[in-house]
Amino acid sequence: MAFTIAIDGPAAAGKGTVSKAVAAHFGFAHLDTGLLYRATGRRTLDGTAPVEAARALRASDLEAGDLRTPDVAQAASRVAAIPEVRQALVDFQRAFARRDGGAVLDGRDIGTVICPEAEVKLFVTASDAVRAERRFRELRDNGFDTTFEAVLADLQTRDTRDSARAAAPLKPAEDAVRIDTSQMSIDQAVASAIAEVDARLDG
Ligand code: DC
Repeated sequence: MAFTIAIDGPAAAGKGTVSKAVAAHFGFAHLDTGLLYRATGRRTLDGTAPVEAARALRASDLEAGDLRTPDVAQAASRVAAIPEVRQALVDFQRAFARRDGGAVLDGRDIGTVICPEAEVKLFVTASDAVRAERRFRELRDNGFDTTFEAVLADLQTRDTRDSARAAAPLKPAEDAVRIDTSQMSIDQAVASAIAEVDARLDG
């Protein structure tokens, strides 16, 4: 049985954490689609052309250790605005979404473009300040020398670019359920996402 949960939202809103926990709870597979754009962006930093980089992606590239850096995040957001790059990544994502046993995909355009037919669509958000604070702590804990202000500016640049682009921009699907995690603990955010899926499974 295929059952797709689409989880979209801006950077550092908690999508990754919620997606992993929801997938674990239901025994579904999870795909962080940001990694596809990060791995593509990472290759362009070596001088590879973006479309060529996207077409050459291998599953093993998603496990590279250096995909979580701010430079790679910006490169990901830049290549993600190129329609041919997005096109090169569609089939892989759709096949993943419809695999037997259920799938959770998180990204920016899962509910709108990749899986408009997803059984559950969530749009996970949080205020800019909360998102920047979370990402700042995460980067600092991983040894990055940065400031809250730099992280905030970085997120806002990325969100503006991701929302303003013509190709599959970041936006909630009309039938997405919004979860604002600004005032929520991780457990609360995960519980509310699970409740939405349960409601859909029962219905
Ligand atoms: O989710 P993330 O921060 O790892 O994503 C990195 C960048 O990739 C993000 O700024 C925009 C792009 N992206 C996208 O355009 N579509 C997706 N489905 C996932 C990510």
